[in-house]
Amino acid sequence: MLTLLITNTAIVIRFILNEKEVVTSLSPGTVLLDFIRYHQHLMGTKIGCREGDCGACTVLVGEIQNSELQYQSMTCCLMPVGNAHGKHIVTIEGINPPANELNPIQQAMADEGATQCGFCTPGFIVSLAGFCLSDKDKVATKENAIAAVDGNICRCTGYKSIERAAASVAEIMNKRNGEETTTFVTKKKMLPGYFTTIKPRLQTLLNGELPTHDSRFTTHLVGGGTDLYVQKHDEMTNAPIRFLFDNPELKGIIQEGNKCIFGPSATVSDLQASPVINKAFSAFHRYAKLVSSTPIRNMATIGGNFINASPIGDFTIFFLALNTHLVLSDGKIKRELPLRNLYKGYKTLDKKPEEYIEQIWFELPGKNTLFNFEKVSKRTNLDIASVNTAISITMNGDEIKSAGISAGGVGPIPMYLQKASEFLKEKSISEGLVHAVIEIAQTEISPISDTRGTKEYKRLLLGQLIKAHFITLFPEMVTEKLLV
Ligand SMILES: Cc1cc2nc3c(=O)[nH]c(=O)nc-3n(C[C@H](O)[C@H](O)[C@H](O)COP(=O)(O)OP(=O)(O)OC[C@H]3O[C@@H](n4cnc5c(N)ncnc54)[C@H](O)[C@@H]3O)c2cc1C
Ligand code: FES
Ligand code: FES
Repeated sequence: MLTLLITNTAIVIRFILNEKEVVTSLSPGTVLLDFIRYHQHLMGTKIGCREGDCGACTVLVGEIQNSELQYQSMTCCLMPVGNAHGKHIVTIEGINPPANELNPIQQAMADEGATQCGFCTPGFIVSLAGFCLSDKDKVATKENAIAAVDGNICRCTGYKSIERAAASVAEIMNKRNGEETTTFVTKKKMLPGYFTTIKPRLQTLLNGELPTHDSRFTTHLVGGGTDLYVQKHDEMTNAPIRFLFDNPELKGIIQEGNKCIFGPSATVSDLQASPVINKAFSAFHRYAKLVSSTPIRNMATIGGNFINASPIGDFTIFFLALNTHLVLSDGKIKRELPLRNLYKGYKTLDKKPEEYIEQIWFELPGKNTLFNFEKVSKRTNLDIASVNTAISITMNGDEIKSAGISAGGVGPIPMYLQKASEFLKEKSISEGLVHAVIEIAQTEISPISDTRGTKEYKRLLLGQLIKAHFITLFPEMVTEKLLV
């Protein structure tokens, strides 16, 4: 894996943009969207929200992982150009057929009347091209094709025609019959022929470069950038940045004994693809679907979620219930800290500025441990939580041996509910127990009224979600009647 090449004068960033290799010594914090539009004059990639919400700026990012060329969709309005280093970046111009024709993806959009003003259309087409290049889904279904555009918003056409176009694309992809993806999509002219040359070109690009890691301390540590580039967009452009996203030492998800150990730069999508995670949490895919959109999940790291310290960070709440530990390092000295002890006050952490998360670990749930995650937001998908919560319960026969409950949106920090968790120990499951633990949880939280709901609503919501945990995990003992 390539890290940035530092020269005496500048950081040189090199990548393939569509068909051509580009080299730039622009500040690596420059937003990729600006580089594409204003430095490369490729205006097909649109600027909508600049906050990762609309998908108008969607590009494909191809990189070699485990000897395979993999493409993911990402919103380039939140991506520093430094995170493009060593990769293949594909804009709508890189998808267009050479002549003045439409490719089958574009044709499907036209045939179904899936475009009106056209502003969102490049983003939809790029996301659908990403669907065609993805090996994730063994069978290309209409549902999977629609899921691939879950980060794209259209303000004028209406989604039914876009869904029909997505279904047509899935139909073509279904004729693949095990053929190698790039060969198939280029043969079908879904993507231009140059895509078949990218893998060897990326390999040459990687081989030709010194793998030097920028270990200079800077306070601007950047993972996927999905928080920093929303919060501090202007500041980031020229900031001295230490890039963590592609650092191989900070990636990877492995099992060692009964521990799951992973790098803080693992993304939500990396977790979704991990056999270790999927074996431990059978509903993981459902939980992940509640978090942002495909392009954001492809960029959002777990380390970034923890350090961002949002009181409603979904994966912070998920991992708080699991007694997760962090290994923090300043480059010389390492120390271990339970995630539960990281948060000292609103956005105040037990972490020195020079420390970064080097590793994250938690004990994998054994056969007697049950886990559940719940989130309620104003919209079911593509929205941050009003309240979220997770629970991990280890049983000893009919009795609870140990438990961990976390809750977000009900205080200034992502909360581990210490008293409620302790209270559950050595108790048997009953509806009475659920009422009692909710009462204790209510003494630990201090929600405030804001755009996501009144404080009374959030208290009620947490109570209902704790009931939902027990209904999901112990359906024989706790029924849905408890909710009313
Ligand atoms: C459209 C959109 C939707 C979103 N939806 C959700 C959602 O549904 N749920 C949710 O929880 N979040 C959501 N987010 C927020 C965000 O995507 C997550 O918090 C994400 O996990 C942040 O990770 P990142 O790598 O992008 O962070 P970055 O922006 O790169 O960094 C965030 C902070 O973490 C620090 N940091 C990163 N890695 C490390 C490390 N290893 N050590 C020390 N510090 C580090 C950075 O310095 C920075 O302070 C959304 C964001 C957007 C733009
Ligand atoms: S401009 Fe809206 S997601 Fe990038
Ligand atoms: S066609 Fe106008 S925003 Fe989608």
